[in-house]
Amino acid sequence: MEAKLDNLLAQSWEKLQQAKRGKAGSRYITVCNFANNYPNAYTVVLREALPDRNLIIFHTDIRSEKVSEIKSNPNLTVVYYDDADHIQIILKAEAAIHHQDDIAKQQWQQSGFKSRRNYLTEHAPSSPLNEEGSGLEYLGEQKFDDSDPAGYKNFAVVVLDVHSLEYLQLNKDGNRRARFKNEQQKGWAGEWITP
Ligand SMILES: Cc1cc2nc3c(=O)[nH]c(=O)nc-3n(C[C@H](O)[C@H](O)[C@H](O)COP(=O)(O)O)c2cc1C
Repeated sequence: MEAKLDNLLAQSWEKLQQAKRGKAGSRYITVCNFANNYPNAYTVVLREALPDRNLIIFHTDIRSEKVSEIKSNPNLTVVYYDDADHIQIILKAEAAIHHQDDIAKQQWQQSGFKSRRNYLTEHAPSSPLNEEGSGLEYLGEQKFDDSDPAGYKNFAVVVLDVHSLEYLQLNKDGNRRARFKNEQQKGWAGEWITP
């Protein structure tokens, strides 16, 4: 691959790593899965970006509808936009769900108390409520701290094996766009495309 394209691919992964640390742009990605004849799109926190293994990671509730949808169709599209640098990165990936295994355990240990609380809702995400509420009312005055394992049973890790990356930078002197594909054995190949 031409050196400039090679560099651009590395820069794109770096951007995702910085995003994960909250250092550049947003910590959030938009994930799309396809189910019931519609693309479903939602915002999640980007938890890891691992260029050496072509992986990105987000967390979710094992009871969430998207988990069973992703299990039956693991093809995901992810959109990231860095508003400061006007860079859009679109990833295509195959996802795997991890629940109560070594990966889930490690990610749970890395996540903070506030995030962990999200996994304590009484009912599954998307369950109808009789009235307005957070789903946490049943906890009453119960206090939780960082070491509390409650919620772990509902905690799932989605690991995305990225096989395609599209880069677009908006620039007043001319936009730039490139697409990269990671083919097994051959590794990443890229080409410039018309913005
Ligand atoms: C800023 C922001 C960050 C979010 N982060 C996550 C996340 O990391 N994981 C997650 O499952 N949902 C996250 N959500 C909620 C999802 O967008 C979505 O509403 C939720 O997962 C509902 O899932 P369901 O339709 O499968 O029930 C976030 C929402 C916002 C607004």
